[in-house]
Amino acid sequence: MSADPAVLARWGPWLPGFVREAMIGAGERHRFGVHHTAPGLAAAVLAVAHSVAEPLDDQTTVADPAVGGGAFLLAAAQQLPGARAEIVGRLFGCDIDPVAVAVSRVALALWSGGVAAPRGHLVAADFLDEDPFPVAPDLVLGNPPFLAQLRGDTVRSGEGRARIGERWPGVGRYVDGATAFLLASVDAVAPGGTVALIQPDSVLSALDARPARSRLMSAAPPAAIWVDDRRRFEADVDTIAVVCRRGSDASSVGLWSGVPAQLDGHHTVHLVADSWAPLLAAQRGVPSVTVQPGGPCLGDVARVTAGFRDQFYGLRDAVSDDCDARVRLITSGLIDPLVNRWGRTPCRFDKRRWTHPGVDLQRVSPTITGWVTDRLRPKVLVASQTRVIEAIVDLDGTLVPCTPVIAVEPAGDVPSLWHLAALLTCPVATAQLVEGATGSALSADAIRVSASRLSALPLPQDLTAWDAAASRAEAGDVLATGELMLAAHGLSHRNDVFQWWRDRLPGPKG
Ligand SMILES: C[S@@+](CC[C@H](N)C(=O)[O-])C[C@H]1O[C@@H](n2cnc3c(N)ncnc32)[C@H](O)[C@@H]1O
Repeated sequence: MSADPAVLARWGPWLPGFVREAMIGAGERHRFGVHHTAPGLAAAVLAVAHSVAEPLDDQTTVADPAVGGGAFLLAAAQQLPGARAEIVGRLFGCDIDPVAVAVSRVALALWSGGVAAPRGHLVAADFLDEDPFPVAPDLVLGNPPFLAQLRGDTVRSGEGRARIGERWPGVGRYVDGATAFLLASVDAVAPGGTVALIQPDSVLSALDARPARSRLMSAAPPAAIWVDDRRRFEADVDTIAVVCRRGSDASSVGLWSGVPAQLDGHHTVHLVADSWAPLLAAQRGVPSVTVQPGGPCLGDVARVTAGFRDQFYGLRDAVSDDCDARVRLITSGLIDPLVNRWGRTPCRFDKRRWTHPGVDLQRVSPTITGWVTDRLRPKVLVASQTRVIEAIVDLDGTLVPCTPVIAVEPAGDVPSLWHLAALLTCPVATAQLVEGATGSALSADAIRVSASRLSALPLPQDLTAWDAAASRAEAGDVLATGELMLAAHGLSHRNDVFQWWRDRLPGPKG
């Protein structure tokens, strides 16, 4: 048997790592998060780290806390200045699996032309238990295991949880494995040093990761993120690289994507620990809008209600096609910004197509009669899973929202229905929903509208502009409504926000 020389030449010192990965059974790979990184990906993450770190020189030390087959150390070795034999002496790695350590040793020796890593530079250890590096490295790089802690065979033992709780009080014993690696790397890196680790993008917005974000903001705030926009990593979730600098007070975060890595722009708005999702939103071209926090919001002046699945079943026997129906069913597909398409466009309900879906109140299931009659009042209705918030006014209160349409019912006479519709038909509202969305919601083009997120939308301060927007909404003029609402929020100079929203508006239908 002879190995294919082309394969050997192509993968070179990366090959032992891939052999190790291929020889590990699927169960163990999952349990320890063993997924090796392709050379190009490691180089892309290194390039982003390089953009914020001190320039690499002949003293720079580099470590990978979950070294696997040494992909990141090899990427760094290729960039570090100096003779190969000497560069190997500035590389450090740790892995819980002694086989991985042996493989990395071989990989580096192959790269250097036979010079072995010095004793103590590549060690078998649990990185979350101890700092295994004999020096504080200038650069910590890697793709740590994503060990979900809520369920499954990746959950750490009670003892492991206790150790995490002790090591980072307040961070939470159930912190995701990859995020714990981020904290441990920040502890290990030299003051002023840089950490660049692959993470699930939930690290930016998950509630569980909030204490970790808070800790990072004071110890090593993010200086750049790289977004894997093509799911190049073998993971079930969207991934990013988070690049932090210890002790920096970064006021602007570089936004990167692609292989090779390319700079997409900078995010300069102040981050808060609650969520770093604005970084992801900004990388995806969502304009950032800052509205004074703490002011009155939609939930203070209206009741916002989402239906639930049972309502669908309760309406099933009550719907019939009836162009004279007094009470009508409205689905998301019938709602365009300020346009009610009932009777003009067919819709789907209960796997059927309807042209004039009417609701016979006598035939509504008794379990939801109260809910349906309670909805028969003047209100604004909001579609779900659309590219912008789409709202219509139900002036005479005869529309029954079909889940997941959301009803916004004013608490009093002021603000009027048209004011509420204008508030929702506004670039600021859509940008805030997209920006605040979790990583996963952002990966789809549509935004997920929820009652709680709509309730939190801020009311504008300029009431005269809001009045003008409400009257344009009543006239059905979507663009003028959006423009006046921007003014009402004091953002009339933000042409970028207006253009972005306008480009997302649905085109004319049928
Ligand atoms: C996703 S692989 C990445 C390997 C390598 N950095 C790369 O990108 O090719 C994760 C590695 O972390 C190792 N690992 C898992 N838990 C660990 C722990 N607690 N401490 C150190 N290494 C660990 C696994 O053995 C595996 O080699």
